Amino acid sequence: MIECKGIKKLYQQLKVLKGIDLSVNTGEFVSIIGASGAGKSTLLHIIGSLDHADEGSVQIDGTTLNSLNQKDLAQFRNKHIGFIFQFHHLLPEFSALENVCLPGFIAKRPYQEVTEEASKLLNKLAMSDRLHHKPGQLSGGEQQRVALARALINHPKILLADEPTGNLDQQNAKQVLSMILDLKSENNMTVILVTHDSQIAMKADRTLTMQDGSIFY
Ligand SMILES: Nc1ncnc2c1ncn2[C@@H]1O[C@H](COP(=O)(O)OP(=O)(O)O)[C@@H](O)[C@H]1O
Ligand SMILES: [Mg+2]
Repeated sequence: MIECKGIKKLYQQLKVLKGIDLSVNTGEFVSIIGASGAGKSTLLHIIGSLDHADEGSVQIDGTTLNSLNQKDLAQFRNKHIGFIFQFHHLLPEFSALENVCLPGFIAKRPYQEVTEEASKLLNKLAMSDRLHHKPGQLSGGEQQRVALARALINHPKILLADEPTGNLDQQNAKQVLSMILDLKSENNMTVILVTHDSQIAMKADRTLTMQDGSIFY
């Protein structure tokens, strides 16, 4: 499902990624651990086409990302890839429900279908009584569940999670993780999760370590 070959990334003189090769199978759950500054976020952003590599290629489900123009890339991302970050990046002026719906509307799916599905997802994440709250009125764990629902609204094949539990207490972290695991097995989603927490990393099918721009198997 994901095939990275020889990915290199430079920031000025700094070699942030030094030639990363990574293959992830459909339905596989891979965790990535490593010290701060190792290049984990940079790699995840490149896999998710939020950033581009200086060298190397990323193939997602047979599509080579380098071959797409900006517009097609944005469409591809919207359709196939879900993201969750450490900070939820929810839009503060919109309700939980609206935040979850947005990627569906951007994909030009029917209003009714998207709204119903967003409610269902939020229900599943035990947020049914928070649909019309704005992010500022929600706790950290609740905000992250909204971000998870938003990541999943377009049924992505791939979920990329960058320290999604980094800001949560242990209880909430566990809950968000178990929700990711449930949804993953229901939908045979491919998941890459970056974390500092070895307990969480251990839940994956496979754990990789990044150090200083390289990946260790
Ligand atoms: N936009 C940028 N410009 C310059 N340096 C950057 C930029 N983004 C990240 N870096 C540097 O690249 C390195 C890897 O960053 P990052 O991928 O965020 O690491 P991690 O997620 O493992 O903590 C760090 O040294 C960081 O300072
Ligand atoms: Mg990071």
